[in-house]
Amino acid sequence: MCRNPYVPQISQVLDIHRETAVDWTFRLAWDAEPAAGQFFEVSLPGLGEAPISVSDFGPGYIEMTIRKVGRVTGGLFALAPGERLFLRGPYGCGFPLERFAGRHLVIAAGGTGVAPVKPVIKHFLSHGEGLAGLDVLIGFKSPHDILFRQEVLAWQSRAGVVLTVDHAEAGWTGPVGLVTQTIPDLPLPDKANVAAIVVGPPAMMKHTIAALQARGLQGDQIWVSYERRMSCGLGKCGHCKINDKYVCLEGPVFSFAQAQGLKD
Ligand SMILES: Cc1cc2nc3c(=O)[nH]c(=O)nc-3n(C[C@H](O)[C@H](O)[C@H](O)COP(=O)(O)OP(=O)(O)OC[C@H]3O[C@@H](n4cnc5c(N)ncnc54)[C@H](O)[C@@H]3O)c2cc1C
Ligand code: FES
Repeated sequence: MCRNPYVPQISQVLDIHRETAVDWTFRLAWDAEPAAGQFFEVSLPGLGEAPISVSDFGPGYIEMTIRKVGRVTGGLFALAPGERLFLRGPYGCGFPLERFAGRHLVIAAGGTGVAPVKPVIKHFLSHGEGLAGLDVLIGFKSPHDILFRQEVLAWQSRAGVVLTVDHAEAGWTGPVGLVTQTIPDLPLPDKANVAAIVVGPPAMMKHTIAALQARGLQGDQIWVSYERRMSCGLGKCGHCKINDKYVCLEGPVFSFAQAQGLKD
């Protein structure tokens, strides 16, 4: 049967993993693979809908890593495995993985921004042979804020993967500082062949992009995900529209060259 993208489908919570006190990863039943960087509209009857990125997927499921901030996300945090919710999607354009083939890829992600890029990181850590080089720079505020702890620590054992925290706590032996501090020393011999993905809080994105530009990268070599307020996710309501662009349809992933033109 053909899926109507306007109609929410019933899904079941298969598992819940508490990453931090306010960020939980929900494994949800879903039978089709989304693209890395796409999002779904998640809804609960009586509470409403919220756009949420896919943080992982596999046979028969997708995962979403959700921060509890309000009405819908609060309702999701009240669910237990086995309970049901509704999903519409996947929506939007994800990361253009094919455009990174043969290039040196720098992925810089901070805080909850690690969620939408996690499928990209996993893809290239297992298919890195298609790249000229890979650097993964991941930052969290403190060790308590680390998402996907076991996976990130496993990734960290690979060359080119740096996990840093802004503020250390007792027992932390890793790097301390912002992800931007590693960028001036990254070996990038062929700058024209570098591509970068930057996703995180606005201040992190601003400074990381500036550091990459200082290394000679142009706006069309840098990709960002633009988590703008959305409602329908389908190009109908206009909530996400800036100038003539519907962020839900043409994004949320844009090159920085395109994103710079998206000013309210
Ligand atoms: C493409 C996209 C992908 C997203 N992916 C994720 C994700 O992977 N994980 C995740 O936790 N969140 C994600 N978000 C943000 C998420 O949609 C909002 O946090 C959610 O809609 C809040 O709904 P609520 O009903 O719980 O909060 P509300 O009760 O509506 O609001 C609570 C507070 O959050 C603020 N808020 C609400 N929506 C947004 C928003 N879109 N951006 C910034 N502030 C907002 C409100 O102003 C208010 O202060 C994404 C947003 C977009 C557009
Ligand atoms: S969210 Fe409705 S038009 Fe984009």
